[in-house]
Amino acid sequence: MEIVETLGKAGVIPVIVIDREADAVPLARALVAGGLPVLEVTFRTEAAASAIAAIRREVPEAVVGAGTLLTPKMVADAKAAGAVFGVAPGFDPVVVEAAKASGLPFCPGIATASELSQALTAGAKMVKFFPAEAAGGVKMIKNLLGAFRFTGVKFMPTGGISAENLPTYLAVPEIVCCGGTWVVPKDALKAGDFDRIRALAAEAAALVKDLRP
Ligand code: 3PG
Repeated sequence: MEIVETLGKAGVIPVIVIDREADAVPLARALVAGGLPVLEVTFRTEAAASAIAAIRREVPEAVVGAGTLLTPKMVADAKAAGAVFGVAPGFDPVVVEAAKASGLPFCPGIATASELSQALTAGAKMVKFFPAEAAGGVKMIKNLLGAFRFTGVKFMPTGGISAENLPTYLAVPEIVCCGGTWVVPKDALKAGDFDRIRALAAEAAALVKDLRP
């Protein structure tokens, strides 16, 4: 299955910031059990690469990607850890090229028409719209689509999305999925409250099912 299709099927991609490698496997299991099997582990912490490797090894039902890839080295480390897709908050042609060269399906970030245009020129088929709510939300995406729909570009908005505003985003067909940290609250992860995380994942997965039966 193409990665865009896999992301679309999930509808919501938990954005994970992990400090303790030991949390990776129970966290991934909780998210998969809740109905969200596609995960983005951000390269913002030391534990990111080993967390991805552990999830690949021990939770085969999960589809794990790497987020916050800002440099070619981060792309290489993500690929070596076993990430099956990569995401960045912004558009950097050097990073897009590194991902292409290493065969890692990659979703660069954009927040303006100019960045979107450059991302398309660099070969992106899908972009992360970040920071979604602060950059104009679903209204901005609809406006961008007015000019760019014919290119076939797809969006993954992230930043400020929650169970409350998820439906307005998923109502737009060009929005493949939404990313967000709301299903993995910092305090729940810190406390090892994987039941709460599973419940939040289940709530998000149920919304996706309702909106995209
Ligand atoms: C990201 O990491 O992509 C965003 O910061 C997630 O934003 P959120 O915390 O508002 O979901």
